[in-house]
This record gives sequence, structure tokens and C-alpha cells, in this order.
Amino acid sequence: MVNLEEAPAHGREESVELVATLLDHFCGDSVLGIETGVMRNTGENYRIGDGWSTLFWAWYFKQRSEDFISVDTNLKNIIGAREFLKEKGVVDNIQFICSDSVRYLNKTINTFNLAYLDSLGPDEEGIDFDTASLHQLNEVKEIIPKMREAAFIILDDVPENFDTGKCKYSVKCLTDSGWQIVLHHKGTTQMVFTNIIDLLGRVSKLHDRGEFLDKYWEIINK
Ligand SMILES: C[S@@+](CC[C@H](N)C(=O)[O-])C[C@H]1O[C@@H](n2cnc3c(N)ncnc32)[C@H](O)[C@@H]1O
Repeated sequence: MVNLEEAPAHGREESVELVATLLDHFCGDSVLGIETGVMRNTGENYRIGDGWSTLFWAWYFKQRSEDFISVDTNLKNIIGAREFLKEKGVVDNIQFICSDSVRYLNKTINTFNLAYLDSLGPDEEGIDFDTASLHQLNEVKEIIPKMREAAFIILDDVPENFDTGKCKYSVKCLTDSGWQIVLHHKGTTQMVFTNIIDLLGRVSKLHDRGEFLDKYWEIINK
């Protein structure tokens, strides 16, 4: 089990670290993760605003000695992230791919236990909500067949009313495809999906759930 108390500070502790714990418990010894949308700025306000997923997952996968892939169209952002991760000593287990995410997902033969989808957003110049929503829908359509039997998909920026905003098509596509929502965390605006049948029942049967899973159990049972 990865000791999350040693994780570097990032911006999405409550949801992302719960998923990391669930990966440890339910996804076996050999896992592969992917994110679309690399961390784009090392400024502290971006840690809180964007989440610095790349730093957290690069650290987590290094602890497990397993691989993580980060896909982004912007080479400058990739170079900046790589430098930052090098400084933090967590660059060894991450592979950067400079590509449009939908194109990469369509072509890759990899399969994944974790997908963190946080690429094109309406905060980018010239991009409106509909363009960003359709891009995320296309990511979801490509990634569903590439997810392994025990897997998690995380969407960032899911507002309280998730029929609106960037995730308005992708949430529906996932639930229509049988993926279950296991967490919608209002604070981090993240929504977590799984294809693990009866995850909640399986969590409840664990003898030693640990602090994070207890927190999860409380959130879900509210
Ligand atoms: C919000 S930032 C990602 C933040 C990061 N996940 C974090 O937690 O700090 C969005 C990133 O998506 C990238 N992006 C934009 N369009 C893309 C596309 N079509 N494919 C892949 N990445 C894209 C941008 O270059 C930017 O680096």
C-alpha cells in the first residue's frame, strides 16, 4: 500500500487520494494510468485551481514502480512539467506524449486501470463549453473500450449540476455504458466512475479499510 501521508501537496486530495487507495485495494499488482492534460503551470494558484494531477500521479506510480502516461498537445507545458517533476524526484515512471488526446486514445494499444480526463477546457482561448464538452465526450468514447476489468475514470471540473458544463455529455455517456458514479466531490469538483461491480459492498467487507476508505465510506453513506 502506498503511504499517502508522504504524497507531495497537490490540489485534489480528497478525491484523488481516495482513488489511489481504491486502486491499491482493488486493481492488483500491475496497473497502468493515463491523464489527458498535463499540469501547465508550477505557480501555487495553479496547484489549487488546476490540481497538479501530474505531480500526484507521477509520485504515486513511482511508489508502485508502475507506469503513468500523460498526454498533452502543448509541448511547452510538457517540458515545464517534466522539469518540475525532475526537481521533485518523481520523473522516472511517467511517459509524456505530445498529441491530441482523442487521437492518442484512438491509436494506442495500451489498456488502463486509471484515466484522469482533464484536457481541453473552456478556459483556453477561443474554446467554448460545447467544444470542450464534445472533446471530453470523444475522450470518453475512446477510452471506455481501453479500460481494464477493474478500473476508475476521473473527470475534473464537474459542477454541482452535472448536466451543465464541460462534462454534460461525458457523464451521461459513462453511465449509459454501465459505469457507476462512486463519488461526486463538490469541493474538488471531481466525479469518479468505476466498472467494479458492487464496489461499495466490497469496500464494506474489507477488514481494515484505513483512514481514506473510512472517509469514502462516510461520504458515500451520507
Ligand atoms: C487544465 S490543464 C490540465 C491540468 C492538470 N491536469 C493539472 O491537474 O494540473 C489542461 C491541459 O490540457 C491541454 N490540452 C488542450 N487541448 C488538448 C487536447 N486536444 N489534447 C490533449 N491535451 C490538450 C492543455 O495544453 C493544458 O496543458
